[in-house]
Amino acid sequence: MKKIINKKSILSVLLAVLLMLSVVACGDKKDETKETEKETEQESEAKVEETEKEAEASEEADTEESADASAGKALEDGVLDLGTNAAFPPYEFYEGEEIVGIDPEIAQAVADYLGYELKIHDMEFANIIASIESGKVDGGIAGMTVTEERLESVNFSDSYATGIQSIIVTQDSDIEGPDDLEGKKIGTQFGTTGDQYAQDDFGEENVQSFDKGADAVVALNSGKVDAVIIDNEPAKSFVAANDNLKVLETDYTIEDYAIALTKTNDALLEEVNEALAALEESGKLQEIIDKYIKAE
Ligand code: ARG
Repeated sequence: MKKIINKKSILSVLLAVLLMLSVVACGDKKDETKETEKETEQESEAKVEETEKEAEASEEADTEESADASAGKALEDGVLDLGTNAAFPPYEFYEGEEIVGIDPEIAQAVADYLGYELKIHDMEFANIIASIESGKVDGGIAGMTVTEERLESVNFSDSYATGIQSIIVTQDSDIEGPDDLEGKKIGTQFGTTGDQYAQDDFGEENVQSFDKGADAVVALNSGKVDAVIIDNEPAKSFVAANDNLKVLETDYTIEDYAIALTKTNDALLEEVNEALAALEESGKLQEIIDKYIKAE
């Protein structure tokens, strides 16, 4: 009996020990789990912090980048605002609601090259320089001739095209060249070089200037003026639509077209010249001109 009791008691002691052990073990396990939980918590907290920091850092980098993007650039708002007068084919004219032509395409290519958004503002040709001076626009692209007088008010980019002042007359006209314009009524577009030359050479009283070149051509068609002095490419396109008109062979003057730019931002002038040089180099400039001016 004793033995049995002994055995039993040994067994129960053993069981008790086992139980205790398992409880302890369980406790340990719980602690362990807690610890691992804590660790993962801490770890993930750290990770969240890290990602937050990373996000912040990359946000900072982003803003730094965009700040850099405009900081290093001439136009801080990222928009290139250019004035034009879209009544001057093939340089700028309306196709439906859209302003198309050599100038808007060159302007777009320049803006793209420089990473700017382009906004074209249509206005009277004679108002473009004043709008640049008042800061309404950053510049103007309008088949605009570089002149000493305009250089007092604006910067000019390098020239991207050559223009010629031409004379348009009716088919039956006796006017054969500039010399025959003496004492005749001459139509021009107000504020253009052609307008200025006509006044200088033939007297203000003999010059009638119109808001649009096309209006001067209408006046020529109806006999109100005897000739129109205007840039050769618009002259050709106006005449193409009028059988009884012709462009005289004699070139009145030869001039350089350039983009006018605000005098208050020399960095913009540098950027635009850099863009024009790149477009010239790549052949893009010529491609745009060839698209609108077909070789004869
Ligand atoms: N080349 C001439 C000038 O600068 C005429 C330009 C007219 N341009 C125009 N978009 N209407 O005076």
